[in-house]
Amino acid sequence: MNLKDLYINFFISKGHKQIPSAPVVPENDPTVLFNTAGMQPLIPYLMGQPHPYGTRLVDYQKCIRLTDLDNVGDKTHHTFFEMLGNWSLGDYFKEESITWSFEFLTQVLNIPLERLAVTVFEGDQYIPRDEVSANVWKSLGMSEDRIAYLGAEHNFWIAGESGPCGGDTEIFYWRSSDPIPKKFDPEDERWVEIWNNVFMQYHKDKNGNVTELAQKNVDTGMGLERVVAILEGVDDNYQTSVWKNVIHKIEEISGLNYSDYSESMRIIADHIRTSIFIAADEAGIRPSNTDQGYILRRLIRRAIRHAKKLNIPIDSNWEEEIANIIMDQYENYYQEIRKNRNVVLSVLKEEKGKFNRTLEKGLKEFEREVKKINSNQIPKDIAFRLYDTYGFPIELTVELAHELGLTVDTIGFQEKFKEHQEKSRAGSEQKFKGGLSGDGEMETKYHTATHLLNAALKVVIGPDVHQKGSNITPERMRFDFSCDHKLTEEEKTQAETLVNEWIQEGLEVSIQEMPKQEAIASGAECMFIDKYPDIVTVYSIGDVSKELCGGPHVKNTSELGHFKIQKEEASSAGVRRIKAILE
Ligand code: SER
Repeated sequence: MNLKDLYINFFISKGHKQIPSAPVVPENDPTVLFNTAGMQPLIPYLMGQPHPYGTRLVDYQKCIRLTDLDNVGDKTHHTFFEMLGNWSLGDYFKEESITWSFEFLTQVLNIPLERLAVTVFEGDQYIPRDEVSANVWKSLGMSEDRIAYLGAEHNFWIAGESGPCGGDTEIFYWRSSDPIPKKFDPEDERWVEIWNNVFMQYHKDKNGNVTELAQKNVDTGMGLERVVAILEGVDDNYQTSVWKNVIHKIEEISGLNYSDYSESMRIIADHIRTSIFIAADEAGIRPSNTDQGYILRRLIRRAIRHAKKLNIPIDSNWEEEIANIIMDQYENYYQEIRKNRNVVLSVLKEEKGKFNRTLEKGLKEFEREVKKINSNQIPKDIAFRLYDTYGFPIELTVELAHELGLTVDTIGFQEKFKEHQEKSRAGSEQKFKGGLSGDGEMETKYHTATHLLNAALKVVIGPDVHQKGSNITPERMRFDFSCDHKLTEEEKTQAETLVNEWIQEGLEVSIQEMPKQEAIASGAECMFIDKYPDIVTVYSIGDVSKELCGGPHVKNTSELGHFKIQKEEASSAGVRRIKAILE
């Protein structure tokens, strides 16, 4: 029997009712992005509201803790984990709680008493030292040497700033093959915390006032992955039965060994698992640039980047193979995984498709820029360009920089980010500006702009984008291109930003005459091959665009001004139309 089942059965035998895991995206709490603890969905009941299942509850709860995101890659951190918990809502208190925890650990899991130690709350000016808990521990055979009294920073638990709270007793396990010391030193990292029993008898309000609750509760939490690692005798959570198949799959797909590439493999495994649980949640979270959607995007994009580090072909269905193994493992416990399996796979695939189009170019851009800078810090403009044009979450740029011993001007980035948001808001409020000169100068500019847009769409959407037509007046340009979907806001912004960057870079526009076949062979873009004579003119803009074209064009992109997409709509089947202006 596995740990989840052993735990649930044990507490059912002690009169508890099993409650289902709450969704990872909290239903009625806009203050947190994700459920971070088993007690979170139970707050109203800890505060006194009667629970329909009674006063003794047990569950396994899906949790996501973002504070650990950057630490993922080592042996013990995860962004998603399962917390085993049991609760007393004004029912039993310290004695039963501690006794049952002890019984479960020593009699069900067969952990020897010598490997255990505990901390209890030493008290403060308001709350007395917890001799009650210490005495229960002693009565169970815990020696005084193995009981440490600690202050509120260790042994007083509250979720965030306010809410139900109380002193706690924490149970530690000696996870080492070194001889077990007689005396417990909570600072010694070989002692790892495995279970936290919180005695929730207080409430802290937003102003910091602490009052006694009407009922005395117990809230316990035990991290599943950590305890499984202990039971299976490994010090690396990713080598337990929870992860074994997933890591094997990543080894198989990459052809590399876990021992040589453990960090990237752990990141891929962890981030795909967490993405699965976010995408499968009934809240319908999809990758985006805000809130939970942004976290989902960050996780998927970071996993992709690490897959690339392992030389996994990103176009292959590696993410699907990994996700399927994970979902097989969880679908019997969480019905939304079974139900939304296909949704999850398409979320992963779609986001992968999007990022894959710009990842390679973005990485090259990053490398180029790193060579140019003469300090240890990546400037804000570069970080912003990587975000805006290449879809690099700022945290990804920070990670890339760290790997080279560099930092990123993240404060400057945030400022630029805000500025940009304000600008695009102002821009979308601005009315269409007509009446520009009709002497041919504007048409020429718009003509060059169509080449830039064509090149930008190839970067943002993919190399299969081709021009299907265009129409230019002195006031605006219209550009039709092959594409099977309505552009997202993000794709539009990326294309627009890219064109504007090329304008700002002041790229030279050059013209060359050459045989048509040679032009095509050199990769020049052309709309209707048969339309052109045998000797053609090819316009190149810096190294970003090369097209067969009769002109005329401006000499340098700096002449164009600011490029703005005004509308994106369907033109005909498989063809989209963009209307844009130069301001
Ligand atoms: N709420 C406590 C914790 O998260 C015990 O469940 O550690």
